[in-house]
Amino acid sequence: MVVQSQRDMAGLVRIGKVVGMTLQKMLAEVRPGITTGELDALGTELLKKEGAKSAPILMYKFPGTTCISINDEAAHGIPGNRVVQVGDLVNIDVSAELDGYYADTAATLPILPVTGVKQKLADVAQAALQKGISVATAGNKVNEIGRAMEGVVRGAGFTVIRDLPGHGVGRKLHESPSVPGFYNPKLKDVLKEGMVLTIEPFVSTKAKHIFTDKDGWTLKTPDGSPAAQYEHTVIITKGAPILITQV
Ligand code: CO
Ligand code: CO
Repeated sequence: MVVQSQRDMAGLVRIGKVVGMTLQKMLAEVRPGITTGELDALGTELLKKEGAKSAPILMYKFPGTTCISINDEAAHGIPGNRVVQVGDLVNIDVSAELDGYYADTAATLPILPVTGVKQKLADVAQAALQKGISVATAGNKVNEIGRAMEGVVRGAGFTVIRDLPGHGVGRKLHESPSVPGFYNPKLKDVLKEGMVLTIEPFVSTKAKHIFTDKDGWTLKTPDGSPAAQYEHTVIITKGAPILITQV
């Protein structure tokens, strides 16, 4: 969506803060021995307290409030009985709706001690997000975001998972335009003031694509290589974007 009014701005800021706080509180509880289902129950409670609704449930009937994806699971992992272990890379993705507005945010947490490559993967995904945000300015083409992020990822010797782009957001969870994590020269979309987007690089040690697991939801790397992703919902301005999910 494109922000048209103070009401839009206030609604987006509000849901941005709710999903941002929910993610931070869930991340604070991640430890070896906890199940992904227990983490998701906390997310359910926090969103309910704010009057917000899980976007994956609302839009897709996803079997969980949040998506929790571990190691070779890149996205859309179903919370359940899986126990978090030392050495895991745990990704939590929280998206929700409040008063007709949507926001979407995620982070990846290494459960220490982890291998050096997993730590680097999480760090590179976070650095790629920051680089993408740094070029997300009105007047630039949308594909400049992917170009900037891909540069960081390739420079570290890793790969962008090309099947999982960022997206417009605001009135629904997924809107146009698509915001790929790599440079696509064919994309002509230009960033405009007030556009609401997610920026979310999916990074792997080797994988460029994902497949859907037999559970029908979980998106995994075909070669078992680990994946990491960070995500913010941003509002485009003439200067630095407003990060509504940063708390
Ligand atoms: Co997300
Ligand atoms: Co998203």
